[in-house]
Amino acid sequence: MNKKLKKLTAILLTVCLAFALCACSSGGSGTSQGTGQAQPAGGGQTTEAVQETVPAADHQAQQAETAAQTAEAGAEAANTAAEAADTAVSQTSSTSAAASDTASPAQQSEKIDYLALVNKQNPLPDGWEEALETVHMTNSIGDDVEVEKKAYDAYLLLKEDLEKEGVYVDLDSARRSVAEQQRIMDDFTEKYGADYALKTVAQPGYSEHHTGLALDLYLIIDGKDVVENEDMIQYPEIWETIHSKLADYGFILRYLQDKEHITGYGYEPWHIRYVDDVNIAKEIMDSGVTLEGWLGAVNETDVDINYGNSETFIPEELAEAAIQIKCTFAGWKGCELHNLRYAGDEADNEENLQWLNTLNQEAGYTHAAEFLTDFHSPVEAEGAWEPDHEYKDYQWWLGRTDDGGWEVVTWGY
Ligand code: DAL
Ligand code: ZN
Repeated sequence: MNKKLKKLTAILLTVCLAFALCACSSGGSGTSQGTGQAQPAGGGQTTEAVQETVPAADHQAQQAETAAQTAEAGAEAANTAAEAADTAVSQTSSTSAAASDTASPAQQSEKIDYLALVNKQNPLPDGWEEALETVHMTNSIGDDVEVEKKAYDAYLLLKEDLEKEGVYVDLDSARRSVAEQQRIMDDFTEKYGADYALKTVAQPGYSEHHTGLALDLYLIIDGKDVVENEDMIQYPEIWETIHSKLADYGFILRYLQDKEHITGYGYEPWHIRYVDDVNIAKEIMDSGVTLEGWLGAVNETDVDINYGNSETFIPEELAEAAIQIKCTFAGWKGCELHNLRYAGDEADNEENLQWLNTLNQEAGYTHAAEFLTDFHSPVEAEGAWEPDHEYKDYQWWLGRTDDGGWEVVTWGY
């Protein structure tokens, strides 16, 4: 890469970093890294078009229309409602599973859309807070957890079934107000720094937890609560048992392994999502697609990944780097990622390292890594993308932080 081009990218990067949005995490020691932002280099707009490639596309298109009107006003309204709900929580915290609304299940099921998509591009739908009926429960740790009513009933059945198999779970977190999500974001920012917070917590207004339909489980093993993510991930067999039963009760696993380029988040075995309809849940779980893919919000394709024969990094380290790229890519609406490959150890040289450290002067990167991707731009692409075009050998540059994480520093050459 020539120096002029590098200078130009430095300017671009400053803008990019200011809008860093990806919530994936990247290995390392608890303060893992990742990501640039959700726009392609060149600053153009990606298309908002909804692709109609699966049966549920119409549903998603309708929701997209509503969601588009919601982004700011809705979040504010939700925030106000959330504060009220927070007060209600504190008043009923000792009540286990007490209903917080009087609507009957029949009325309620007409009010909320159990297939609503809330993700990095789609905020909580307008009017959700007003229509939502929740219950409160107290978990084994003594925390109050608020859950959408039908989702809670289904969860209790799932839990009962799991207990027959000797698997014990409880609810760590379910419905969160926008204010609560902001508190979590602030808390993570204070504890781990803004970078890490942005990579692990959804932006307030854009968390699926606002729906009350997303449940974070924790494990109880030999009578002990296993709550921390890094501890829970150590029990893949237990999660396998849990996941195998989800659909029977109308749940799906939301953040699948190797689907970061679609969901924008790394694997979260504990985050389950109630979709109500058991047949739909089974279809989604059996097919292995994400909710985004099933709804037709994205054209879900598998990504072919090649880590090459690095002598500098082990495959697991390169896999962490790839996750960061896929998470960033998830923000490029309508783009389809086809493959991703490590460009080789020769990119990890002094000149490139210095360049990346110039682009992000606070980072202190210890290594540079280059990846190449092929992807397809949306048919109705605007701004930075040539419409309906296959981009080949598109470059991504990542810096390795001294805690062993990766950051996407720049892309697009
Ligand atoms: N951890 C999930 C993505 C959230 O904050 O909603
Ligand atoms: Zn969650």
